Amino acid sequence: MIVAANFKTHMTRQGTREYLDELSRFVAARERDDTVMVFPPATALECGSTGVLVGAQNAYATRNGAFTGEIGLEQLEEFEIRTILIGHSERRHVLGESQEDIVHKCNFFKEQGFRIIYCIGEPIEIRESGSDALMEYLERQLEGIDLGYEQLIVAYEPVWAIGTGLTPSTDDILLIHNALKKIVKRPLLYGGSVKPENAREIMALANVDGVLVGGASLNIDDFTSIIQSTR
Ligand code: 13P
Repeated sequence: MIVAANFKTHMTRQGTREYLDELSRFVAARERDDTVMVFPPATALECGSTGVLVGAQNAYATRNGAFTGEIGLEQLEEFEIRTILIGHSERRHVLGESQEDIVHKCNFFKEQGFRIIYCIGEPIEIRESGSDALMEYLERQLEGIDLGYEQLIVAYEPVWAIGTGLTPSTDDILLIHNALKKIVKRPLLYGGSVKPENAREIMALANVDGVLVGGASLNIDDFTSIIQSTR
């Protein structure tokens, strides 16, 4: 299974370093081969650690250049970062990235051989329009993405479940993951209000290959408890 932590705009470099040290010790002591990933803020990308994959939450589709405020390939390479989150709902809906921007970014990092966690998910109004509308929406978010790319992982994160404490029912997660797995033959993560209390039930579902955790990953005890819940 894959268990990934997205810190978003939380944690300092020092805090990330302490967190990763503790997490590395925890992972080393386990006799399981789950993949554990952490996506810290860009200021903490140098904190690489053994046994835990550190990835970037975002980067610009360029090696370097005049893109004020962005980081590119050159900055990621310095810290040997080879994993990136693309298409997260906050980048789409808060920071205004279009599907076209996201496809471009995905193709750029694919050409560089990055492991890509590609995020999709519907807002509440689509959810309320029924399951056909929901699947059509998710399929549109997959348009232009090379679903055969061997370093691709897809994360299904319903926008209305992110940071709200709400989650779809396990029946709904199962239905959506089953439908997605027909299109995406790659690992499929679920994200959106995953916490120690629901992680085991969610990761027990067929076609859920892991979880992408926001809020609950900020507390190391909660995150390690989620890692303990893998099937
Ligand atoms: P929460 O776990 O805080 O709902 O966030 C999920 C998420 O956006 C992970 O990328």
